[in-house]
Amino acid sequence: MKRFIFDTYEEVCSAASELYVKQLNEKPDTVFGFATGSTPVGLYNELVKKYESGEIDFSKARSFNLDEYYPMKKDHPQSYDYFMRDNLFNKINLSAFSLPSGEAPNAQAECKRYDAEIEAEGGIDLMLLGIGHNGHIGFNEPSVSYSMGTYLTKLTQSSIDANSRFFGPDEVQPTEALTMGIGGIVSSRKIILMITGDGKAAIAKKLFDGMIHADVPASFVLLHPDVTVFMDKAAAGNL
Ligand code: F6R
Repeated sequence: MKRFIFDTYEEVCSAASELYVKQLNEKPDTVFGFATGSTPVGLYNELVKKYESGEIDFSKARSFNLDEYYPMKKDHPQSYDYFMRDNLFNKINLSAFSLPSGEAPNAQAECKRYDAEIEAEGGIDLMLLGIGHNGHIGFNEPSVSYSMGTYLTKLTQSSIDANSRFFGPDEVQPTEALTMGIGGIVSSRKIILMITGDGKAAIAKKLFDGMIHADVPASFVLLHPDVTVFMDKAAAGNL
């Protein structure tokens, strides 16, 4: 594991974006894995800037996202599909992007289809992850056992509460999601984990205490042979 700690969130995003430049120079047809949430937004802005200035070209690359609410219409403003188009996909020239479909009539069939699609594209080269306050990655919530492949999961109250800020008082907030499993995530060739903000300091302390915690899903990511962690000082405050 490589771990870098920067003074500010902006510096984290700028440093992480350099790995995308390197990755695309080495492999223009990279298969990216992307996450939603507030953590990667600054990185996505950096990637858009680099694309607009001609520094990077995504035209041969494609992507898969970690998760999507279920059920969820693609065009709903709170869908992860919408979020990704709004923050990144509409602003760069990726050749294709996929998310698990919140519109699929059969969740189990959609999970199998999604894993087969990732496999058919040769797997994920570079996976981007954020971390939940409870240590979740994607929507793999703390548990005693974890799924290898993509699956339908119930969100914990902690995740529902954390995401409630995005839903209006009259909107029904989904309580389930389709998410890549831990197995799918750690099958990626390289992983970037971003941990920023003082709200993540407590989980960061547990994550880096030298133990693999079965109830911290992100712990399993640290076993990966090529993981780069980017943190800001706020999140690293308790280390
Ligand atoms: C979403 C995802 C989640 C988030 C996590 C942190 O695709 O993978 O695991 O990374 O909930 O969210 P933020 O960045 O909003 O703190």
